[in-house]
Amino acid sequence: MSFRLQPTPPARPNRCQLFGPGSNTKLFAKMAASEADVINLDLEDSVSPGDKDAARANVIEAIGAHDWGTKTLSVRINSLDTPFWYRDVVDLLEQADERLDLIMIPKVGNVADVYAVDALVTAIETARGRTKKIGFEVIIESAAGLAHVNEIAAASPRMQAMSLGAADYAASMGMQTTGIGGTQENYYMLHGEARHYSDPWHWAQTAIVAACRTHGILPVDGPFGDFSDDEGYRAQARRSATLGMVGKWAIHPRQIALANAVFTPSDAAVAEAREILAAMEDAKAKGEGATVYKGRLVDIASIKQAEVIVKQSEMIAG
Ligand code: COA
Ligand code: MG
Repeated sequence: MSFRLQPTPPARPNRCQLFGPGSNTKLFAKMAASEADVINLDLEDSVSPGDKDAARANVIEAIGAHDWGTKTLSVRINSLDTPFWYRDVVDLLEQADERLDLIMIPKVGNVADVYAVDALVTAIETARGRTKKIGFEVIIESAAGLAHVNEIAAASPRMQAMSLGAADYAASMGMQTTGIGGTQENYYMLHGEARHYSDPWHWAQTAIVAACRTHGILPVDGPFGDFSDDEGYRAQARRSATLGMVGKWAIHPRQIALANAVFTPSDAAVAEAREILAAMEDAKAKGEGATVYKGRLVDIASIKQAEVIVKQSEMIAG
């Protein structure tokens, strides 16, 4: 318990973040026309080292050239262990149109990684008289990132969101898998003869949600690699939504509608939440703190749970 109120995260939809390589200019117009809430133009791992300079120039051009509508526009820069990242930041801040909303910093391992980018961004914004302040989102995708997740969530007032990057995280943890998210063949419990599959991403996700909720930023589930497996994506996204995450990445356009469906509270869920709020209003009028709704207990905590769903639905509806 704390006397401090939990800070509210940025009030913008973040149900789906669509990625595309900065080297693949053909995709930009399709990304701009998509139903994703957030667009991530990538300079990092989907761009080969020899293409970094060209991709950076493409992305800077595309930020001003396309109509991104009301989407949140983000560029994923290269990580701080590469020779590319400073040039990404300098060129973006010096040359890109003010339409750019966020910089995504990958492979963040500690609070100083965010501090370093913040210092550079702040200096260039001031020097160039940029009026719009760039926000940050980060990817937690290493053992160090997860070990320092709470400090990272509080690293800068620019921080808006945090994603779990399953592939790099698995590699850093030494996990025996090449799958990017979802069910893993060897992660099961035996009950008699029956195998019950468990979720190896659960702890990392929950740690990220707790850090984000503590510091008022958005927790997001990262990529699901097998873009032919709609049911697998849906199951992973539903688990993430149940844990408190607000959205998930799409690495192929067919994943956008899946994410939007899972992370938009259903009409039935919103109707039930409103009924719970009404039941609690009746209880309050009678001087009661708890009552019965559809044969089950609801109390003052149920108001907060129901409000999460109603507020999410109203925010998405705009
Ligand atoms: N954004 C928008 N449109 C996309 C897209 C994306 N990320 N990926 C594919 N498309 C388009 C294709 O251009 C194609 O359009 P068309 O019907 O007009 O020709 C259509 O969707 C179907 O694409 P498909 O042929 O199934 O896929 P592909 O073989 O062209 O590309 C990938 C597959 C995985 C290489 C591609 O989706 C991709 O680059 N994804 C993003 C990878 C990335 O950014 N990774 C970094 C984060 S982990
Ligand atoms: Mg990664």
